[in-house]
Amino acid sequence: MESREALQAKLKKATKALSEQKEVLHRARDYLENVLENSRDMIFRADSDDVLVSFSKGGESSLGYTLDDLSGLKVRDLAEDPHAFESLAVQCLKEKKAVREEIPFRHKTGRTVYCRVTLSPLTDARGKVIGMAGVCQDITVWKKFKGDLIRVDRLAEVGRIASGIVHELNNPVAVIGEISGWIGSVASDAEGLNEEDREEIKTSVRHIGEQTKRCRNITHQLLSFVRESKLTTSSLDAHELLRETVSLLTPELKFTDIEIVYNFMAGPVLISSDKQLLEQVFVNFISNAVYAVKEKGGKRGRITLETFLDDSGDSPMVEINISDTGVGISGKNQKSIYEYFYTTKPPGKGTGLGLPISRNIIENLGGSLSLESEPGEGTTFTVRLPVS
Ligand SMILES: Nc1ncnc2c1ncn2[C@@H]1O[C@H](COP(=O)(O)OP(=O)(O)OP(=O)(O)O)[C@@H](O)[C@H]1O
Ligand SMILES: [Mg+2]
Repeated sequence: MESREALQAKLKKATKALSEQKEVLHRARDYLENVLENSRDMIFRADSDDVLVSFSKGGESSLGYTLDDLSGLKVRDLAEDPHAFESLAVQCLKEKKAVREEIPFRHKTGRTVYCRVTLSPLTDARGKVIGMAGVCQDITVWKKFKGDLIRVDRLAEVGRIASGIVHELNNPVAVIGEISGWIGSVASDAEGLNEEDREEIKTSVRHIGEQTKRCRNITHQLLSFVRESKLTTSSLDAHELLRETVSLLTPELKFTDIEIVYNFMAGPVLISSDKQLLEQVFVNFISNAVYAVKEKGGKRGRITLETFLDDSGDSPMVEINISDTGVGISGKNQKSIYEYFYTTKPPGKGTGLGLPISRNIIENLGGSLSLESEPGEGTTFTVRLPVS
């Protein structure tokens, strides 16, 4: 028989061991609570019938539900394809091992949330399966990013192919243009042709010439688009560039009564870009404006070029407004004008590449493009570019 003192010593030792174990358990519980509380993943526990028992904060932010919203629900009810989740759960419970699958869930607002789901079986002390624990990582953004990368890669490939085709097309197109010009002059002087035949040949040849010019426009625009990455960047004064661009368009403005108004802020505004590229952008805006004014009927009209400095944001931006008093663009067409090959101009006059390419160039420079238009009154395109 052990002495009272010995028994007391044993009890003291056991109590100490117990409180140490309790401390370990507390720490483990705090640790788990912290993980559940702070994890951005959705962590849940379900019983063997798949009914939700607990649901982490990460789940609330990923799917928009609280545990109260979901009480009594099965996890599969949250999945877009309940059968896919069910078969993963069955595999987990049957094989008694962790399984992983990508499963789309539905957010409370109805949008799809793509999750990488890991399910692990939960067992009692005797090894009997009593439910499962799941960790769902929201990979929606990653999936979108991956999709974007694939698309960008495909676009780059299309660009490479297009530049090859364009290169091959340039020479035959130039030859066709030359020959059509030559046939036109031969037809003018040829003997043995009556006046009607002569006019017919001349009209046909003029059509060939116009269509050839159109092809050349398309190939040139596509080439400059594809070659964007090989451009040389320098510091340019936006005001000087805009004045130079207008002088490039003198032939287009010659037989019109269109007034060009400059409303520039004082001093130069420096932007960092490839000169030819930006010139191409502004040539397009201004020649679109000239066309819109002419289309309105009568040759009178005004094109205003304005600049403002906006230094309200993190980095200063120059805002360039190109306004015209032309036909304007209806709300419906405002959505279409940035589509490749969308044009309202007759064959030979426009290719419909100007605006989509310009927008791409502006965005690549870290800028943005917007427009305001009143049909019958006019249009203002606003180009915002970072000041260097
Ligand atoms: N200032 C404007 N006023 C009215 N319509 C405009 C204006 N700018 C563009 N548009 C409309 O947007 C269409 C597309 O313009 P975009 O510059 O992309 O092509 P395009 O001028 O037709 O051909 P390209 O520029 O390739 O020679 C034009 O055909 C026209 O209908
Ligand atoms: Mg254009």
